[in-house]
Amino acid sequence: MHLYIHIPFCEQKCHYCAFNSFVASKNLHEPYIQALLEQLKKLFNKYNPQYLSTIFFGGGTPSCVDAKLYKPIFEFLWPYIDSHSEISSEANPNSASSSWLQQMHDFGLNRISLGVQSFHDEKLKLLGRNHKGVQAKRAISEAQDVGFENISIDLIYGTSLDTKELLFDDIAQARAFGLKHLSAYTLTLEENTPLYTKPEVSKDSAELANFVRQSLYESNLPQYEVSNYGTLTCKHNLGYWKYEPYIGAGCGAVGFDGQKRYKASSNLKEYLKNPNALHVEIVNENEKLLERLFLGLRANVGVDKNLLSPSMQKRAQILIDEKMLDLLDNRFYAKDLFLADEIVLFLLEKD
Ligand SMILES: C[S@@+](CC[C@H](N)C(=O)[O-])C[C@H]1O[C@@H](n2cnc3c(N)ncnc32)[C@H](O)[C@@H]1O
Ligand code: SF4
Repeated sequence: MHLYIHIPFCEQKCHYCAFNSFVASKNLHEPYIQALLEQLKKLFNKYNPQYLSTIFFGGGTPSCVDAKLYKPIFEFLWPYIDSHSEISSEANPNSASSSWLQQMHDFGLNRISLGVQSFHDEKLKLLGRNHKGVQAKRAISEAQDVGFENISIDLIYGTSLDTKELLFDDIAQARAFGLKHLSAYTLTLEENTPLYTKPEVSKDSAELANFVRQSLYESNLPQYEVSNYGTLTCKHNLGYWKYEPYIGAGCGAVGFDGQKRYKASSNLKEYLKNPNALHVEIVNENEKLLERLFLGLRANVGVDKNLLSPSMQKRAQILIDEKMLDLLDNRFYAKDLFLADEIVLFLLEKD
């Protein structure tokens, strides 16, 4: 079983981010962890997982919460994990201090995903980040010093400042650390964020996207999902793309048991009051098929041929003839992961 744990706190809101996170008083961190523990106990009672192959602490910014507050969470989870479990956390360069990294590593964290976004200060400022390039480099090397072997960084590209030279430099700086995983996201202008009303800050370019992919490939970071690259893949995220069930805990976090999707309140006050109040949604067979197609084709996971209706299989054959789709061992794979959504839309069209 997979487990997602949401930490909804941030030190500041970045100009592009629409994730469920709040700049809240540090006094709320401890009650939040208590609420989380209460929810975890209830969910584990219901779903009775025997073993957790992955745990992912996402946010928000897990590193802005004092590491010692995580101890009861790890104590609760220890019986369900072993040395093969992938235990990841997101972290921001300015709050992932050496001591935070060390304590989390001691608790069992073995993968860290640092929100670097860029090593260029002007670009970081445009994105509204509260760190500089030099802090990002410090955080990566401190994570390496602590002993993390599985380190990933996030980059954002497609801002008005991006050129091939700048992106090549960002990738070269990442490569210098010998990382085995990197996520590169195209800037999305999300509603209700400061950048939404400033379309001039984004430069949506297929040429830049292909350049990023090629440069990462040449840095031994091959693409395995639309935004994910590397030889040491993220098992937790692969679980989502393979449509495997997962437990989701935390304010606004979603869980999926294979039939139903459930979600705790996205409102921090309400969550703290009642972490066990869940909104439940049944996923019908048609929705499941759509989700499997969109999720499977965006990664090197593919989709089982037998899931497709005869008319969809006919359309798939057209894409195979056009060299947009591969069929291997009875599974369809997008040849170009950047085109996965278009491929699914074509498969869904009526004859
Ligand atoms: C849950 S977020 C945050 C993790 C952590 N708080 C941080 O900022 O590094 C995960 C990643 O999503 C990406 N992201 C968030 N909003 C985005 C947007 N609007 N466009 C592109 N990438 C985005 C960023 O790269 C970010 O690091
Ligand atoms: S990108 Fe990360 S640090 Fe910035 S607001 Fe979103 S979750 Fe918080």
